[in-house]
Amino acid sequence: MNREATRSPLEVLPGAPGRAEFLPFHRPWIDDDDIAEVTDTLRAGWLTMGPKTARFEDEFARYVGARYAVAVSSGTAGLHLALDALGIGPGDEVITSVYTFTSTAAVILHLGATPVFADVLPGALTIDPAQVAARITPRTRAIVPVHVAGAPCDMDALLSLASRHGLKVVEDAAHALPTAYGGRRVGTIGDLTAFSFYAVKTITTGEGGMVTTASPELAERIRTRRLHGLSRDAWKRYSAEGSWYYEVTYPGYKCNMSDLNAALGLQQLRKADRFHALRAAHAARYRDGLADLPEVDLPEADPSITHAWHLYVVRLRLERLKIGRDAFIRLLRDENIGTSVHFIPLHLQPCYRERFGYRPGDFPNALDTFRRVVSLPLYPRMSEADVEDVIGAVRRIVERYRTGRVS
Ligand SMILES: Cc1ncc(COP(=O)(O)O)c(C=O)c1O
Repeated sequence: MNREATRSPLEVLPGAPGRAEFLPFHRPWIDDDDIAEVTDTLRAGWLTMGPKTARFEDEFARYVGARYAVAVSSGTAGLHLALDALGIGPGDEVITSVYTFTSTAAVILHLGATPVFADVLPGALTIDPAQVAARITPRTRAIVPVHVAGAPCDMDALLSLASRHGLKVVEDAAHALPTAYGGRRVGTIGDLTAFSFYAVKTITTGEGGMVTTASPELAERIRTRRLHGLSRDAWKRYSAEGSWYYEVTYPGYKCNMSDLNAALGLQQLRKADRFHALRAAHAARYRDGLADLPEVDLPEADPSITHAWHLYVVRLRLERLKIGRDAFIRLLRDENIGTSVHFIPLHLQPCYRERFGYRPGDFPNALDTFRRVVSLPLYPRMSEADVEDVIGAVRRIVERYRTGRVS
């Protein structure tokens, strides 16, 4: 690549070649097959939940190896319905990670239950099973582990805690397609697992989600709850073999998927392995290109698991740098590289801080991680040259701002 020709007008670092165009943090991969499938749905005229949603559920269940998959309107809706299907409500406590997106905890509040936060493992993004164990009370009903970035939580420890205390496990797998742990795909491990197909996720339906389970009763409860609590959905009522009669068996929600979203999902799912291979290749290249920098810790590539590589979260060794994380992000922005931060721990957010009276130091591992992390762009549509540009930009910033102290 002719780097001179792509010199950035925004460059701030001496000798920085930069990029001519901004590299966004994410760009979805939508191709002609996706467009044809959605167009076919529009022409067929069945727009709401119907045959394409049913096919997407079947193919998704087969892909992860789950017995049942129930399509919903978002990952958030999936978590909400999963916990509701378990009967969680007022007076109950649900233990989840403080290091997650707000909806993981918000749905617990929506049900009238109490989210109880546990810290992450030191140097990791995933929940510490010892911290979970310390928070179990007679009111605890479930654990919600979050496979942040696509790396699995320590599920052996969490499942063993759950079985010892009679708790249910609902996995937040918004980042975890395809993640595997102990030779099993996420989606087949806990009692219920909620996936997200939000625009930036590893496959997308624009907005959407899926709940998997091995329990026919739980699958049925989620099917009923996602569509008003009706005894039969629209497809069963309005198709040629349907009947107008239905019963309302539960005060349900409006959280079903539409066939338009499912059409996109069907084609995205067919590309999921290709997407994953590209993500893994880019992650491997990041490792090769950055591993020698003592100022940056890279995500582990543990060979015993499959990492979905939804996110590539690096940790800055701030004691070895003259700048903080926010300046690091600004300098990457000046190099025309988009980044993000996953996550702002929930105990720092006013909604949870004010309700539960948290102080920043209450979750020291999450706080330390939050101050250090930067999510670099990682998605299948990035070219190898894009990955090299990110590596070059990170290296230039580190080389310019390192203290030179390596203790
Ligand atoms: C960890 C986590 N859980 C849940 C969600 C919610 O998913 P959705 O946006 O599909 O509702 C997200 C983000 O979108 C997330 O990052």
